[in-house]
Amino acid sequence: MARLKDKITIITGGASGMGAAMAKLFASEGATVIAADINKDNLAKIAEIGNVEGMNLDVSSDVNWAEVTKAVYDKYGRIDILINNAGISSEKSPDQITEDDWCLLHKINSFGPFLGIKHVSKYMKEARKGSIVNTSSYTAIIGSGFNHYSASKGSLRAIARAAAADLGQFNVRVNTVFPGVVETPMVAKLTEYKEAMDALVRATPMQRLGQPEEVANAILFLASDEASYITGAELVIDGGYSA
Ligand code: NAI
Repeated sequence: MARLKDKITIITGGASGMGAAMAKLFASEGATVIAADINKDNLAKIAEIGNVEGMNLDVSSDVNWAEVTKAVYDKYGRIDILINNAGISSEKSPDQITEDDWCLLHKINSFGPFLGIKHVSKYMKEARKGSIVNTSSYTAIIGSGFNHYSASKGSLRAIARAAAADLGQFNVRVNTVFPGVVETPMVAKLTEYKEAMDALVRATPMQRLGQPEEVANAILFLASDEASYITGAELVIDGGYSA
């Protein structure tokens, strides 16, 4: 199958978890993937996959985004798809959250994707085509207890809707997914929350956590031309947890 044949695709956070699952899947569907991540060691591993190239990117840096998007454009002549997937989590309760904590989460989870949209839209508008998919979180939709994390993902939701309204006239689509808890390295480190995880699984209609490939499959559809009239859409992928 080649549902993304020849699509030049940047996946942020492409060196781990859901981003790595997307890099593998998208490359297998014919895309040329630029896995853009801050983790150089993991980037080197993911770049061993055919049609996947690793590029160092700190999504919270305006300058860095300008360099990476220019490098991709100079090499390939276009940027077809951006997946704004990189993010960090925090389990701190409101009484523990400092100003620095708040700013860091927002700088990476909300300002980062905004910068991605800012920089790729320049090239996509010119080409009069493009597809952007953002990874928000179920915590942007329902009360989850993750205060500043939820806020950063809610901010991304609003940024994405505004961008969809702005960029539709240029044939640039912007959609967002809202995963529930997915078994990735981000979640694997939450060993002290085992009881809470078990309770979450019990409260999930499908009675299990998600797998990175299940999110990657949904994002593949939204990113591809199969979704050519879909923009501003919000797709929850959480086994029914927020239903
Ligand atoms: P992960 O921790 O496995 O992967 C995240 C990747 O983002 C890592 O490779 C990391 O190096 C990269 N990254 C972090 N800061 C960066 C920066 N400043 N610049 C560039 N890259 C950076 O996490 P996972 O679970 O695959 O998460 C992917 C996205 O999905 C994140 O935005 C996360 O918030 C979101 N999400 C995760 C859920 C889960 O249960 N795993 C649930 C809902 C949303």
